[in-house]
Amino acid sequence: MNIFIVYAHPSKDSFTHRALLGFLEGLDSAGHRHVVSDLYAMDFRTDMTEEEYRRESHYRLDLPVPCDVLAEQEKINRSDAIVFIYPVFWTEAPAKLVGWFDRVWTYGFAYGPQRGMKQLEKGLVICIAGRDRGHLDEHGQTDAMKTVMLEDRMHDRVKTRDFVILDSTAKHDLQARQAHWDRHLRTAFMVGANIASTTR
Ligand SMILES: Cc1cc2nc3c(=O)[nH]c(=O)nc-3n(C[C@H](O)[C@H](O)[C@H](O)COP(=O)(O)O)c2cc1C
Repeated sequence: MNIFIVYAHPSKDSFTHRALLGFLEGLDSAGHRHVVSDLYAMDFRTDMTEEEYRRESHYRLDLPVPCDVLAEQEKINRSDAIVFIYPVFWTEAPAKLVGWFDRVWTYGFAYGPQRGMKQLEKGLVICIAGRDRGHLDEHGQTDAMKTVMLEDRMHDRVKTRDFVILDSTAKHDLQARQAHWDRHLRTAFMVGANIASTTR
């Protein structure tokens, strides 16, 4: 499969970056090809211009889609699956990734009566959380994140959807972070190796 990965973490000195590398190794081991958009490294602009806003809010197909957005959309349409890898920031993706959706999910591509976006075989989220999974579930945060990423942003743009949380990685609890480190990296590898089949 051709896999497009949208990756958003500001630092390579992070567990999230290690998880990205583990996931890519998994893809390689199964013979998948991949392209990564590393949004912070690319300095991807995430604020909409007023013209972009007018295009989206008034359904103005005559207004131009910026080149950097078109480049992301082409990566999507050349792929079979899309994968988002990011740390949880305030029960959401980092603003860098939220802004990517604001700009890349354009009218006429991701929504509207006629969409240019192909329906992908798979959409996968791998998010890295400081909190433990029990806390995220208990406080409705897992459901909130799944609703936004799977039901709204992915929706029917993908045929199958998975959501993987690698939890308990906060730096303030180094013992827990260390205890989960290897298991989470194995999970990231296995999710990559089995991307054609995994559903959670
Ligand atoms: C601004 C900010 C907000 C965060 N918000 C949350 C949160 O809402 N829930 C959570 O589980 N972890 C949260 N975290 C922890 C991050 O997910 C953290 O980066 C994660 O433990 C991954 O570690 P890494 O940065 O080494 O990849 C937050 C971290 C930052 C910097």
